[in-house]
Amino acid sequence: MEVITKINEMQTRVLSVRDRKKSIGFVPTMGALHDGHISLIRSAREENDELVVSIYLNPTQFDNSDDFDKYPRQLNKDIEIIRKENADVIFTPCTEEMYPDGFCTHVTQDKLTDALCGGVRPGHFNGVTTIVTKLFNIIDPDRAYFGQKDYQQSAIIKRLVADMNMDVDIRVCPTVREEDGLALSSRNKRLSLEDRKDALCIHGSLQKAGAMFASNVRDAKDIVEEMTSVIKKTKQARIDYISIVNADTLEDLSFINGRALAAVAVWIGNTRLIDNTILE
Ligand code: PAF
Repeated sequence: MEVITKINEMQTRVLSVRDRKKSIGFVPTMGALHDGHISLIRSAREENDELVVSIYLNPTQFDNSDDFDKYPRQLNKDIEIIRKENADVIFTPCTEEMYPDGFCTHVTQDKLTDALCGGVRPGHFNGVTTIVTKLFNIIDPDRAYFGQKDYQQSAIIKRLVADMNMDVDIRVCPTVREEDGLALSSRNKRLSLEDRKDALCIHGSLQKAGAMFASNVRDAKDIVEEMTSVIKKTKQARIDYISIVNADTLEDLSFINGRALAAVAVWIGNTRLIDNTILE
């Protein structure tokens, strides 16, 4: 496995893979890897000849400098995890490589970025679409892998590749959970023991939404109200948003009559966690 930090070296490697007519699978990450990332890496390993995993903590997608500063960093451990998964390349550039002096071009998207996290994290998705465009341009993958926990991110990236005619197949893999239902996230590493217990209200609220939907409740307000009361039982949890949206357009729904997404963002202490479930 090769660890590459320079863009031109990564591009040379990609050209040699292309010369050999091999496919490239790509898993972009910000490090602090957990089993959710590993499941993406395994799917990518299975479906492609060459597997590239990137580790780059992208500053432009953090709307809050405290969140960036506190984001867990464990590069050496991550490299060992990826090595064990039999990747061919880790691409881990520095910020001077990705955003050199004079950098002033950004990729932005309308509509899908207004909803959910876009409404409460200004600029976040512009940072994501910009860095993902750059990574796709450098790595030229056939397939790229994202997790359903970041549902909105995956929807935005699918739209990005369609709108910009990028020839990349976007694969969205199921959310990986702890046994008690907590969705795996790099930010979970920041939870205290108490926070960890409190965080369970997030999955509890989504289970409530699923159960109401299964018993034919279709009024989104009723479902959101019940989800809110599940979360409010946990005194330390602060709701950022609870929304039921059309799963394709991410527009708010008052009545569910097609594929819908129940999505939640909640602050547990100083850590903001997100999760979602599809209602269909
Ligand atoms: O999901 C993430 O970890 C990041 O948003 C991504 C896709 C690696 C871009 O920085």
